[in-house]
Amino acid sequence: MCGIVGALAQRNVNEILLEGLRRLEYRGYDSAGVCLLDGDRQLQLRKSQGKVADLETRLDAEPASGRLGIAHTRWATHGAPSDVNSHPHVSDNIALVHNGIIENYQSLRTQLQDKGYRFLSDTDTEVVVHLIHSLAASGRNLLAAVTEATKQLEGAYALGVISADEPEVLVCARSGSPLVVGVGIEENFIASDPMALRQVTDRFIYLEEGDVAEITLGGIAVRDKLGEEVSRPVHKLNGGHDAADKGRYRHYMQKEIFEQPQVVEATLAGRIGEKSVLSEALGARAHEILPEVKQVQIVACGTSYHAGLVARYWLEDWAGIPCSVEVASEIRYRKTAVRPGTLFVTISQSGETADTLAALRQARQQGQEELGYLASLTICNVPNSSLVRESELSLMTEAGPEIGVASTKAFTTQLVALQLFCIALAKVNGLPAEREAELVSALHQLPQLMEQFTGLDRLVQQTSEAFAEKHHALFLGRGVEYPIALEGALKLKEISYIHAEAYPAGELKHGPLALVDADMPVIVVAPNDELLEKLKSNLQEVRARGGQLFVFASPEAGFASEPGVTVVEVPDAPESLSPILYTVPLQLLSYHVALLKGTDVDQPRNLAKSVTVE
Ligand code: G6P
Repeated sequence: MCGIVGALAQRNVNEILLEGLRRLEYRGYDSAGVCLLDGDRQLQLRKSQGKVADLETRLDAEPASGRLGIAHTRWATHGAPSDVNSHPHVSDNIALVHNGIIENYQSLRTQLQDKGYRFLSDTDTEVVVHLIHSLAASGRNLLAAVTEATKQLEGAYALGVISADEPEVLVCARSGSPLVVGVGIEENFIASDPMALRQVTDRFIYLEEGDVAEITLGGIAVRDKLGEEVSRPVHKLNGGHDAADKGRYRHYMQKEIFEQPQVVEATLAGRIGEKSVLSEALGARAHEILPEVKQVQIVACGTSYHAGLVARYWLEDWAGIPCSVEVASEIRYRKTAVRPGTLFVTISQSGETADTLAALRQARQQGQEELGYLASLTICNVPNSSLVRESELSLMTEAGPEIGVASTKAFTTQLVALQLFCIALAKVNGLPAEREAELVSALHQLPQLMEQFTGLDRLVQQTSEAFAEKHHALFLGRGVEYPIALEGALKLKEISYIHAEAYPAGELKHGPLALVDADMPVIVVAPNDELLEKLKSNLQEVRARGGQLFVFASPEAGFASEPGVTVVEVPDAPESLSPILYTVPLQLLSYHVALLKGTDVDQPRNLAKSVTVE
C-alpha cells in the first residue's frame, strides 16, 4: 500500500528518498514520485506510473537534487494509476505526499474550486495540498497551515509536506495511517515504515493519532491532537536482519518459506519449558486476565484470519472455551452482542491493517461500557505497531520483516504464537499436565519438522507442473485442516492468479462437486487424524467424477499414487502440529505454479502488503 519517505539533511537527499522507496516496494504500489527543493528554492517534481525503476529512469533523464524532499509510492484508491494521479501533489509553492483516504474530499474540493483552485488529478489527496496552500496564503507558516488543515480532514491520513518558502522545515501529521520520524544526527527523516530508513538511522519516534510534527535539522517538535507540545519516546531498533536482502534466493517469498524453521524456533524461544508453556510469555498482566476469560472473539483479515480459524479448533478442544472468529471489515460494522468475560484477540502481521485496528478501537470503546470486552490481546509481528500499542496484551511473532506480499512465515509463526496462547488458556481451564507436556514436546520438535517439510521443495516443484495450464483449483480439508485448505487456496490465487476455492471436504456434495471434472485439480490436505476415513470417502466422490486428486499425506495415511491420484508424501508428525506443517507444501506449490506462470511472485498485481486504508 502507499509508502511515504521524507528527508531533511545537509546533503543531497535524492538517493536516500529513492532507497527508501525501494525498501517500501514490497508493500505493493502502482506509481512512484519524488519532490525535492533545490538550491534555488524551486520544487523539482518527478513522478511516474509504474515501478521505482521507472521513476529512476525519469530522474536520469531529468535529474533533481536538494537537501529537503518527500517521496511516495502510490497504491490507487481514488483515481486510476497514472503519472498525474501519482504523488507528490503540488499547489504552487507547497508539495505533499499522503497515505490514507480523505472521506470529505468532495466537499473540500468544491469549496477550494470556488476559491479558484484548479485540480489536475482525480485523487482525494490533491484537496489536502490546496487546502494547506489556502491556509498558508492567509499568513500562516507551514506548521500552522498543516495543523489547521488537519482539523478539516475527515478520514485517514499520514502526511509529509514541504514548502519552497521554508527550506529548513519538513512537516508531517498522522491520523489513522502509520508514520514514523527517523532521528539522525543533524538530519531527520519521515517514513510510513521504519524499514524505509534503516540505511540512515536506527532511532525512531512513532507518532500517535492526531500528532503533527515540525522537523528541522536539529530538532523534532511534536504536538498532539489538542495542540499541546509533547515528548514522544525515541525507540532504538536493534540490528536484526536486513530484510531487504534476498540472499541466495530468487524471490523474497521463497526466502521467507525457507526461513520458517528458524523463525518458528525464535517464536518459541523463551516461551516453553521442557513440559509446559511459560504463561509469562503473554505479558505481565496475563496471570490476572487469563483466569477471567470465558469466551474469545478473534478478529483479523486475510491470511491472519485463517490463523484465527485454526486457533478456534485448538481453543474449544483444549481449553473448552467458546471462540468466534470474524473478518475485521465485517465485525466493525455490525452491532455485536458481547458476553461477559470475552477476550478480544486481533491477529496481524503488520499491526497496521486499517479494518483490524478500527475493530480493536471499537472493542476497546465497548470495553469501557458495562457489557464490553474483558481485555484485548494482539498477536503481531511488528513491535511498536499501532495494534501492539493499543492492545492491553501482546504476543509477538518473531518472523522478522516479511517482504513478499503473500504471507508465509508470518502465518506459521502466528499459528505457533496462537498455539502457545491456547495452551496457556487451557492450563487455567484444567488442561491435564500430561496433555500439556505432550503438546509442548511436539512444539520442541517443530523447527526440525519444519526443516523436513521445506525439504519437500523438489517434489512439490514436480507436482506443480500439472497446474501450469489450469484456470481453477479446489482445495479440501476437514477439521483443523479446513482453514489450511483456505490458506492454500488464497496463496494460489494471490500469486498465480488461478481461481482457487477451499471447502470442508464434507461440503463437496452440497455444491462444489458440480464443478469437478478432469480439468479441475483437487488438492487435499490429509493428515493421519480421526477424520481421515471420512475424508477418504469424500475423495472417492471426486474420483468417481474424473477429478484429478493431489493428496498431501504421510505414508501412515495409506494413500497410493495411481492414475488420477498424485500423492505428495510428507513426513509423519504429531497431530497438534499438522496445520502448521501442512501449510509449507501448499506455500511451495503456489510458489512453483507462479514461477511457471511467470507472474510477479513478490508483488502480485493489485495487492498490497500492508492494507492501511479501509
Ligand atoms: C494484506 C496482505 C495479506 C495479509 C492481510 C492482513 O491483504 O497482503 O498477506 O494477510 O493484508 O494483514 P495483517 O498485516 O493484518 O496480517
